[in-house]
Amino acid sequence: MKVTVVGAGNVGATVAQCIAEKELVNEIILLDIKEGLSEGKALDLWQTAPVNYYDSRIKGVTNDYKSTENSEVIVITSGVPRKPGMSRDDLISINANIVKSVAENAIKYSPNAKIIVVSNPLDVMTYVAYLAAKTSPEKVLGMAGILDTARYRAFLADELKCNPKDIQALLLGGHGDTMVPLPRYTTVSGIPVTQLIEKEKLDAIIKRTQNGGGEIVSLLGTSAWYAPGASAAQMVEAIIRNQNRIFPCCVKLDGQYGYKNVFVGVPVKVGKNGVEQIIEIELNAEEKASFDNSVSAVKTLMDVLDNMKLF
Ligand code: NAI
Ligand code: 2OP
Repeated sequence: MKVTVVGAGNVGATVAQCIAEKELVNEIILLDIKEGLSEGKALDLWQTAPVNYYDSRIKGVTNDYKSTENSEVIVITSGVPRKPGMSRDDLISINANIVKSVAENAIKYSPNAKIIVVSNPLDVMTYVAYLAAKTSPEKVLGMAGILDTARYRAFLADELKCNPKDIQALLLGGHGDTMVPLPRYTTVSGIPVTQLIEKEKLDAIIKRTQNGGGEIVSLLGTSAWYAPGASAAQMVEAIIRNQNRIFPCCVKLDGQYGYKNVFVGVPVKVGKNGVEQIIEIELNAEEKASFDNSVSAVKTLMDVLDNMKLF
């Protein structure tokens, strides 16, 4: 079985490394547009195999989509980060053109592939991949919710001085500062987090989570890759191993939560077909208002894309 990761930058190479270490497939193709980059990283990762004890073969290619033929999953991480002076619309325009061409090329060789989008702005790039691949909506998922809940869970573990493995959490909405962490659906070994942390501290953790990407950018001057790479690999694993895991993922809504034709983060059961089920949870008025606000922010960006008339 084969998985392709497009973009051999910080996130793409980490996704490939996580997939190899989990031995999910026997072949991983790492594809980039920059000559030598994916070849070099793939070689380095293959030379890690005897040390870290995995046998997934990793091959790096420059823009050679024929090598990606019959991939079960395609992970799209190609794109540029937002630079100073660049507007959000500029970023949408540049990355939409990249994600469009990548999805069109990749689907030609793997018409049944499931596509996991990582490139930003995440929700609108997931929409682009769906339009470009012309595949069924169940096969196109965006990765953001696993990363955002991981940040939330890590901050909670710090506050509670407890093991992050014991924290279960849920989060809805777009990948941006309007995302909606849900304390009512957050537990620590079954104990509602609201019984363990006072509201003021919880609110501060939610705010830090909403700013989680920016916090790393201000420290590193570029965005995160370890947690994003691991999060995308977890989605690949759920598909390859048909695990029916439930994660927050960006998917196309078709009436759920009162919305149609919008790509936004909601709880999804992920298995061999990609989206096995979109789960609708009960929201109180405040949670619903926050979700509506996040959907509206995502829709604004989707409108920017629509106005570009790329499709
Ligand atoms: P990076 O700059 O390290 O890597 C991007 C790679 O894409 C580069 O190697 C570049 O050569 C390649 N690329 C550009 N155009 C291409 C094309 N047409 N075909 C193939 N490859 C192409 O960036 P990094 O840090 O890996 O981030 C990648 C993307 O993921 C960015 O858009 C970033 O904002 C996003 N991101 C999303 C997260 C999420 O939660 N969804 C989390 C972290 C990053
Ligand atoms: C992140 O959340 C920037 O989307 C990127 O780290």
